Amino acid sequence: MEENKKRMLSGIQPSGDLHLGNYLGAIKNWAERVDDYECYYFMADMHTITVRQVPADLRKRSLNQLAQYIACGLDPEKNTLFLQSHVPAHAQLGWVLDCYTMFGELSRMTQFKDKSAKHKDNINAGLFTYPALMAADILLYQADYVPVGEDQKQHIELTRDIAQRFNSIYGDVFKIPEPLIAKTGARIYGLTTPNDKMSKSIPEGCVFIMDDPDTINRKFKKAVTDSDTENPVRFAPEEKPGVANLMNIYSTVTGKSFEEIEAEFAGKGYGAFKPAVAEAVIESLRPIREEAERLIKDKAYLEDVYRKGAERASYIANKTLRKVYKKVGFYQI
Ligand code: TYM
Repeated sequence: MEENKKRMLSGIQPSGDLHLGNYLGAIKNWAERVDDYECYYFMADMHTITVRQVPADLRKRSLNQLAQYIACGLDPEKNTLFLQSHVPAHAQLGWVLDCYTMFGELSRMTQFKDKSAKHKDNINAGLFTYPALMAADILLYQADYVPVGEDQKQHIELTRDIAQRFNSIYGDVFKIPEPLIAKTGARIYGLTTPNDKMSKSIPEGCVFIMDDPDTINRKFKKAVTDSDTENPVRFAPEEKPGVANLMNIYSTVTGKSFEEIEAEFAGKGYGAFKPAVAEAVIESLRPIREEAERLIKDKAYLEDVYRKGAERASYIANKTLRKVYKKVGFYQI
């Protein structure tokens, strides 16, 4: 890997199967930038236990997610792909950063508010301090850019604040990272809940990367639109959130602009529009699903990828961790 390239890093929690929101909001943008950056992508398995997981399922999903990353175009020879829990420096720096992150800052995090409302019986300390671990994930690698969907912007802003606070005490230890948020696809809404982001918690409105064509067709058929028959396919997010979401999906998948889409469906209704969106999604996911199905069966290959990935990631992460330990005053061996 070339030393002078800028660094890019991101992760996804293997808390559920990857869906169209993860793909269009995050992974698609990662895969498109492979040649211009030095890239680190991981399965954020440590983050998932802030919510109870079935251990065998988590193990399976972590490996499946790795296969899906590769199938989405992340070549392991060009990208460092790893499991977060295989690189202990994440937990080690996470603890240090806990001590440089304020209670008030963490209390303002939207994801914490949402998740603690959803899991009232398990508002654990990890769920609260999660953004400090996420800051560690990023800062360990001195990442320049963090490509994510819009919902993660707040966490990256906090990461920047933590890094700046630390640097202002100890000198230039951390690079200050920038979020990289795509123009389209950064916020995909649920097909049946066009005011809530697409998420696995509402499975009927959530298209999973591994869904077969029939399932995808069925989900798009049930997509919420409206009763507009005058001029149905036009981009008006406030007035027509369901249609705007479908247009956003279609635009991100095909590269067509909203004007081009409006022209394509002028005079046509949802009976023509919805199947066209479904078809475009099916065709863009088909090669990914087929390749992931093949890779999932090749355990030896995946093991080789995550071992090498953990080794490369640890090398970079440990360099930063050693510097941090020295700065805060831990006695060196
Ligand atoms: P997570 O696992 O919830 O989501 C992973 C990525 O998918 C994006 N995303 C979406 N984009 C558009 N529309 C949607 N409906 C949608 N749903 C999810 C997210 O924005 C994200 O980019 N905290 C992170 C995981 C993480 C991480 C990190 C990310 C842990 N450490 C370090 C970057 C850097 C999370 O919970 O994402």
